[in-house]
Amino acid sequence: MKAFIIDRYGSKGGGRIGQVAEPEVRTDDVLVQIHAASVNVLDSKIRKGEFKLILPYRLPLVLGNDVAGVVVRVGANVRGFKPGDEVYARPDQDRIGTFAELIAVKESALALKPSNLSMEEAASIPLVGLTAWQVLVETAKLKRGQKVLIHAGSGGVGTIAIQLAKHFGAFVATTTSTSNIDWVKALGADIVIDYRKQHFEDALHGYDVVLNSLGNDVLGKSLRVLKPGGKLISISGPPSPEFAVEQGLSWPLKQVIRLLSYRIRKKAKQQGISYSFVFMRASGDQLREIGSLIDSGAIKPVIDRVYSLDSTADALAYVENGRSKGKVIVKVKQP
Ligand SMILES: NC(=O)c1ccc[n+]([C@@H]2O[C@H](COP(=O)([O-])OP(=O)(O)OC[C@H]3O[C@@H](n4cnc5c(N)ncnc54)[C@H](OP(=O)(O)O)[C@@H]3O)[C@@H](O)[C@H]2O)c1
Repeated sequence: MKAFIIDRYGSKGGGRIGQVAEPEVRTDDVLVQIHAASVNVLDSKIRKGEFKLILPYRLPLVLGNDVAGVVVRVGANVRGFKPGDEVYARPDQDRIGTFAELIAVKESALALKPSNLSMEEAASIPLVGLTAWQVLVETAKLKRGQKVLIHAGSGGVGTIAIQLAKHFGAFVATTTSTSNIDWVKALGADIVIDYRKQHFEDALHGYDVVLNSLGNDVLGKSLRVLKPGGKLISISGPPSPEFAVEQGLSWPLKQVIRLLSYRIRKKAKQQGISYSFVFMRASGDQLREIGSLIDSGAIKPVIDRVYSLDSTADALAYVENGRSKGKVIVKVKQP
């Protein structure tokens, strides 16, 4: 089958379209014909080798962490899906490869595609939707009336996180640049800070939760926005000791990770704020919950551009510019 493959890690944007063997279908797997995938910053970080200690993939590797498509075949133990079902997923982190024509996904990672979405729209949801869910629902336990700051509201994660937080009745502030302000407000944000003109840490105070997806500078300043008892939750690092345990990392790596987050954990503790690092994981159950919010119209996908599988390298390059407005899609199956 045709796929976008990397042969080695590197910062120079490698990767090629080529042929690879069709995936093996294990007893708990569902074989999906891929109609669309979406590009995540994670794909780019994996390609650069930034995750090789945490996610030790065997090369050559097919990239891609989001899929929407149609079930072709199911393994002997699969009960919830049948050939012909339209599905979407973020595959398990050790079974990625959605920039391709087929993928075998564990049943536990898969959900039926919301019927009101196109394949491209459905592919835009899983990784960022699960991230927003695991930050705001699982970790923050967001409650009606709480105040949450979602950084980079115009990005893949931000666009869904704003809508999810509003659905749960939170008061939402976000950051973006001038040209995005109006449409990000239309997603439901109550306050939009233009980060090129205003310092968010001067404008916002007494917040319960901050979702950080930006660098260490923004992470540190976010402490000023939170009230004592507040929660600083980062998805862009630094990773926490709890993350190292969850990932089952070696003792030396655990020590490195402890050091990486030492300063922010210490500063947060001094202010009575909890610091967490969330590294999202696959979950078909949570995708079903997100799917019902999509069915009801509470969450709508935001798509910036659509590329063909042959242009996957261009799609990755566009995302690496860091200016995406919502999600970038790779349309695999052409009509
Ligand atoms: N830990 C996890 O499980 C997990 C999961 C998903 C994502 N992530 C990480 O989270 C980060 C964001 O992911 P994403 O998919 O949302 O990225 P993205 O879609 O590429 O984000 C692009 C957006 O970021 C905005 N932006 C850039 N600099 C900004 C700033 N200083 N202040 C406010 N907005 C800014 C841009 O708006 P302008 O054009 O207006 O600047 C653009 O709309 C990445 O580092 C990714 O690896 C982690």
